[in-house]
Amino acid sequence: MSDYWEELHKRYDGLDWTEKPSIFAEEIVEYLPKNGTLLDLGAGQGQDSVYFAQAGFAVFSTDIEVGIIERADEYSKEFFGKLDKPRPGMRFQVVDLQKKFPFEENTFNIVYSHLALHYFNKESTEKLFSEIYRVLKPGGVLAFLVNSVSDPEFNTGKKLEEGYFDTEGTHKRYFSVKDAKYFAKNFDVILCDDQGETYKDQDKGVHNLIRFVGKKLE
Ligand SMILES: C[S@@+](CC[C@H](N)C(=O)[O-])C[C@H]1O[C@@H](n2cnc3c(N)ncnc32)[C@H](O)[C@@H]1O
Repeated sequence: MSDYWEELHKRYDGLDWTEKPSIFAEEIVEYLPKNGTLLDLGAGQGQDSVYFAQAGFAVFSTDIEVGIIERADEYSKEFFGKLDKPRPGMRFQVVDLQKKFPFEENTFNIVYSHLALHYFNKESTEKLFSEIYRVLKPGGVLAFLVNSVSDPEFNTGKKLEEGYFDTEGTHKRYFSVKDAKYFAKNFDVILCDDQGETYKDQDKGVHNLIRFVGKKLE
């Protein structure tokens, strides 16, 4: 599966949407605390990590693929270099979303993920949300964007379990609003709808991604 990500990242390298914050990041920043530590899960090229670093958060940018983490590190240096500013404190680290996170409990003010929480079966997805809950500080905020059951590609490929398919060389889960609330049941919902969009898939008619923002319940 890691070859799949390496290949995909090579294809995306340099595309204009990889060098600006996502629509989702700009939409949800208003719901976040004004500063603090932010863990970006499955950060890819790191465009949102850089956006949040520039907004004043201490960002931990993570992914499973070493090459893309190195690329994100370089991109952040180039980005702040062009602004002629020192790069704020950013950390880059391998984190596998299917394993226990290498962080203590109550570490982060914010956990953020743009299109990376939807690759796992139900059991792994439940464990993943428990890990997110564990590493968030009390009152911390979780914000994520995931595939939706309204996507044109929903129900294509081989069905592995309800809402979960073997498709285009990877496994993908498609969420409804209800599913997002189910997995994030330990969070007080601030925003949960199917109005999410990305620059990459706007032209493919994808306008109904699942957006979630919630606060860790004590
Ligand atoms: C669709 S990309 C999203 C990247 C970035 N957040 C963005 O929106 O441009 C999904 C990302 O999840 C990462 N990923 C896939 N499986 C993972 C896993 N088990 N643990 C951590 N990251 C993973 C991939 O390497 C890839 O960077």
